Amino acid sequence: MPNPPESPAILPRLRHETRPFHDAVEQNPFNLALAAGTVTAADTARFLARMYGFLAPYEAQLHAQAALFGPAWQLDQRYRAPLILEDLARLGHDAAPPLYPGLPPLGTRAQLLGAMYVLEGSTLGGQVIARQLDKAGIAAHAFFTGRAERTGPLWKAFCQHLTEAAETEEPAAIVASAVLTFQALSAWLNQR
Ligand code: HEM
Repeated sequence: MPNPPESPAILPRLRHETRPFHDAVEQNPFNLALAAGTVTAADTARFLARMYGFLAPYEAQLHAQAALFGPAWQLDQRYRAPLILEDLARLGHDAAPPLYPGLPPLGTRAQLLGAMYVLEGSTLGGQVIARQLDKAGIAAHAFFTGRAERTGPLWKAFCQHLTEAAETEEPAAIVASAVLTFQALSAWLNQR
């Protein structure tokens, strides 16, 4: 069913309702060290390991339910967990990091869309971080560089598909899943 006219479009609503969590996630120890100019290779490896622990099980769920999304979503271009393993190997860590055990439920298309909003959005800050790492002489930025010049176009395409999907999926379920995903990721990344 289409949204009633008084409900805001899905993207401004997601942006508004998850803003406090974006602010919280930006306060993780790795990003604070980056901003202070004190980041080390060990800080970077620790952050990447945590990010892998979250991204890998999320991407596995998305992959398992890829049939819910058509080819226009370009899911094959969106998986990033393997890039983290490349970076970790470059930093001398060969073992796959522990996986986060508390992912929010991702069994429906609406739930996957909320989580996808969070993790697709996380590509946007990556370009800045890749440059900060370069400056710090830490040569492990495959994950942060990620999609490089395709970052903007893939994000825009995602936003367009999400907006269309919110005409048939329950917007409140998408937003609730985005909030749960942000909360879980923030707690996992900020744990010292
Ligand atoms: C891993 C943690 C992070 C997650 C999950 C995340 C998530 C998101 C999301 C969902 C958006 C899209 C907002 C929207 O337009 O609807 C976004 C945008 C953005 N984020 Fe983050 N973010 C993270 C960390 C960071 C960090 C550490 C920085 C700072 C370097 C950052 C900088 C940005 C920037 C610059 C944008 C784009 C704003 C715009 O173009 O309008 N993010 N992020």
